[in-house]
Amino acid sequence: MTQKVALVTGITGQDGAYLAEYLLKKGYIVHGLKRRSSLFNTDRIDHLYQDPHVENRNLILHYGDLTDSMNITRIIQEVQPDEIYNLAAMSHVAVSFETPEYVANADGIGTLRILEAVRLLGLTKKTRIYQASTSELYGMVQEVPQSEKTPFYPRSPYAVAKMYAYWITVNYREAYKMHASNGILFNHESPIRGETFVTRKITRALSKIALGSQDTVFMGNLNSKRDWGHAKDYIRAMYLILQQDKPSDYVIATGITTTIRDFIDMAAKEIGLQLEFRGEGADEIGVLVNVDQEKFIEKVGDQFLDQIITRAAVKDVVVGVDKRYFRPTEVDLLIGDPTKSKTVLGWEPKYDLKGLIADMMQSDIKLMQRENYLQEGGYQILNYFE
Ligand code: NAP
Ligand code: GDD
Repeated sequence: MTQKVALVTGITGQDGAYLAEYLLKKGYIVHGLKRRSSLFNTDRIDHLYQDPHVENRNLILHYGDLTDSMNITRIIQEVQPDEIYNLAAMSHVAVSFETPEYVANADGIGTLRILEAVRLLGLTKKTRIYQASTSELYGMVQEVPQSEKTPFYPRSPYAVAKMYAYWITVNYREAYKMHASNGILFNHESPIRGETFVTRKITRALSKIALGSQDTVFMGNLNSKRDWGHAKDYIRAMYLILQQDKPSDYVIATGITTTIRDFIDMAAKEIGLQLEFRGEGADEIGVLVNVDQEKFIEKVGDQFLDQIITRAAVKDVVVGVDKRYFRPTEVDLLIGDPTKSKTVLGWEPKYDLKGLIADMMQSDIKLMQRENYLQEGGYQILNYFE
């Protein structure tokens, strides 16, 4: 049987890394688009890396950028993919307010470049395309919960660019009968989530606080609500979307929404820390009020137990709010209705929010323990406050 060939843009990102691993396990030859950078930026896929001198490699990386039409066209011509997963994007909503033109180019027109290359190369019958669309499209939500039929109201340059990408995908499907589909994915996280997204910022900071290497974490809007799932579950949905006979658009979500504040609370509980939130808006604080010692020892160890008990005894502040993390326009509430993906794709997530948090906390505790060892060994460790 001939091996299927997939091209994954954004392969160095969270979803790209999980998807590449998943497709390789299924026997695919996976080609990935990576950007040239002044440092190696392949940490997330290093375990999959194969020496270019090895014959019959299954993972092949190409230098490229979604802002470069000729590069995209050449790679698609060389690779002749059966499936393209377009995951590449400047994906940080807050940063998109600072780089709106670049985001329009990469996240919006980038999708057009792929669709048009497939069309011009005569691959419309062969190549199926997955577009990484987003629940950010719902922005100021017009309906609760949000389904494939809910109108869009984007609230950031990122979401507006993704709205163009969504509709150009639909348009190419209708105009040229291409197998092009949108996955409208709600927030999904993991231990390899980018460090500046809210969940990872929280799990990293709480781990450092538990291990005595950070005092306080400063957050933005604690009231917004997100429908969080695990990236490992969500990349399975991407694959299923491209295995359908007919292209279509699917919401991928859990159907449960949680505030940022409650995520912090749950992540703290996961390692035995009990927090209490006081005040409102920019004056809100989270104080440490109690420690479940047995749990703390089980999850973190006993080296820093006395220190954390002392902090709890004086009700020390561990969470603060800093307005610099507020966004010019916010998306207050996201909650998806995954009925279509469950019934048509047969997709079911394996992780719930508690399981996701446990996975992330366990991984970040380990990571920060390693940083502590390095520090004890005389190496300098920096704290990032993004
Ligand atoms: P991510 O971790 O930020 O990864 C983004 C990837 O895109 C990285 O590999 C990045 O390369 C690459 N990239 C950025 N700009 C590029 C450009 N101009 N040309 C080529 N590659 C470029 O994002 P993710 O969480 O895996 O998300 C994957 C996709 O799903 C994104 O399109 C995102 O917008 C979308 N999405 C994500 C979520 C979510 O909750 N995670 C939800 C809905 C939709 P570098 O490594 O070089 O930076
Ligand atoms: N990043 C961040 N940092 N967000 C914070 C902070 C903070 O310190 N404090 C509060 N928040 C709030 C944000 O204001 C937002 O309401 C929420 O936490 C989630 O922020 P992010 O984790 O940055 O994700 P996002 O929802 O804006 O965007 C992510 O999900 C989208 C799907 O809905 C990204 O992955 C997008 O690429 C994706 O499309």
